[in-house]
Amino acid sequence: MTSANPLANKSEAWSALFSEPVDELVQRYTASVGFDRRLWRADIDGSLAHARMLAAQGIIAAQDLADIERGMAQIAREIEAGTFEWKLELEDVHLNIEARLTQLVGDAGKRLHTGRSRNDQVATDIRLWLRGEIDVIAGLLEQLQRVLVDQADRHADVVMPGFTHLQVAQPVSFGHHLLAYVEMFSRDAERLADVRRRVNRLPLGAAALAGTSYPLDRERVARELGMDGVCQNSLDAVSDRDFAIEFTAAASLVMVHVSRLSEELIVWMSQPFGFVALPDRFCTGSSIMPQKKNPDVPELARGKTGRVVGHLMGLLTLMKGQPLAYNKDNQEDKEPLFDTVDTLRDTLRIFADMMAGLSVRPEAMEQAARRGYATATDLADYLVKKGLPFRDAHETVAHAVKTAIGRGVDLAALTLDELRAFHPAIDADVFDVLSLRGSMAARALPGGTAPAQVRAQVARHRQRLAG
Ligand code: ARG
Repeated sequence: MTSANPLANKSEAWSALFSEPVDELVQRYTASVGFDRRLWRADIDGSLAHARMLAAQGIIAAQDLADIERGMAQIAREIEAGTFEWKLELEDVHLNIEARLTQLVGDAGKRLHTGRSRNDQVATDIRLWLRGEIDVIAGLLEQLQRVLVDQADRHADVVMPGFTHLQVAQPVSFGHHLLAYVEMFSRDAERLADVRRRVNRLPLGAAALAGTSYPLDRERVARELGMDGVCQNSLDAVSDRDFAIEFTAAASLVMVHVSRLSEELIVWMSQPFGFVALPDRFCTGSSIMPQKKNPDVPELARGKTGRVVGHLMGLLTLMKGQPLAYNKDNQEDKEPLFDTVDTLRDTLRIFADMMAGLSVRPEAMEQAARRGYATATDLADYLVKKGLPFRDAHETVAHAVKTAIGRGVDLAALTLDELRAFHPAIDADVFDVLSLRGSMAARALPGGTAPAQVRAQVARHRQRLAG
């Protein structure tokens, strides 16, 4: 019964302990190789660091290490070339690679798993893989911010109606509006950097759950893998996936921000607004209505936000009932995590390109601001400067707006005499504050919408993004 080796042939029993092979449907049900094979490079890197440490500690021979290194190099080549034969019977990426290694180099391959379990191995693999993906996503988030900062710079002087309750509120600079998203994405980047610190810890050495009696040098493995330290409790190391959950939470927030931007783009592109246009390569037509150009990309991004938020809920729910330590439930962490990464990466890539190509229609924005009595607050502030209490000024301007609405004109279209009828303190200089640009330029405090402030913020962001 020496052939009862779990890596030998899974049409046989798992080990000497089992009296029959695994049921075929159960085999498919429990296998993860269909999706976790994408962890292969992290799996090999982790195994090599483990093997080098085993050799340095005298746990395996130098020749075993050399064989393992040679075998792994060949496996990496096979996987890259697409010639590696992934076997469902071997369940997951870990057993597939280990079995091939043993096939290639014999006993050295069987020694690799000394002092290790798939439990600490898989936790290590996911962390290594996720760390790399976080770095890619961080780069894309920066790229998107740069694009938005450039657009903000270009459109610092463009007046658009700022909204509250989607009702025209006050004139704001379109650049200022875009920089609001830069603030959101910069916080998202901070959150990801913070998550990365907790992802980048080494579970190896925890073995199945209790640690191992071999004299492993965990710090050495951590150093070789570029990790910031080792997980300090073996039970925790193999069982918690909070690092994946908090990554997905951070990813959900990025998507929520993208989704809000998407919603605005969709509204801005609609005919009644006509504020912006997206490059044709980001739009699609209709099969029946020849005039249509639809903002499919922002709509899909808004839709895909639901799916990423769903993955967050899925992962939280996956974790909540698990007793310590490892449970097979955790195999279910991968598909939601992978899909979150893929969705976020593609979305950020597309948005950086799309926002760079956004064209802006300043006349449409300005016209919309004018239609909405966006400078009413400025008239009230003007009266306050002439000595009226703010509440009285507010009421006086409400009368003026009512009259203007009745006549179907903007406040600035009323004559000085007409305006003076609402309050005698009104003088000819009132027309400065009734202009959209005057209103915008007056909000020059830090964080305000004045074009000068927008340019100062653009400079600050450029410095931050260059550093
Ligand atoms: N494929 C497994 C996973 O993703 C690897 C760990 C298996 N460990 C075990 N004790 N069955 O979690």
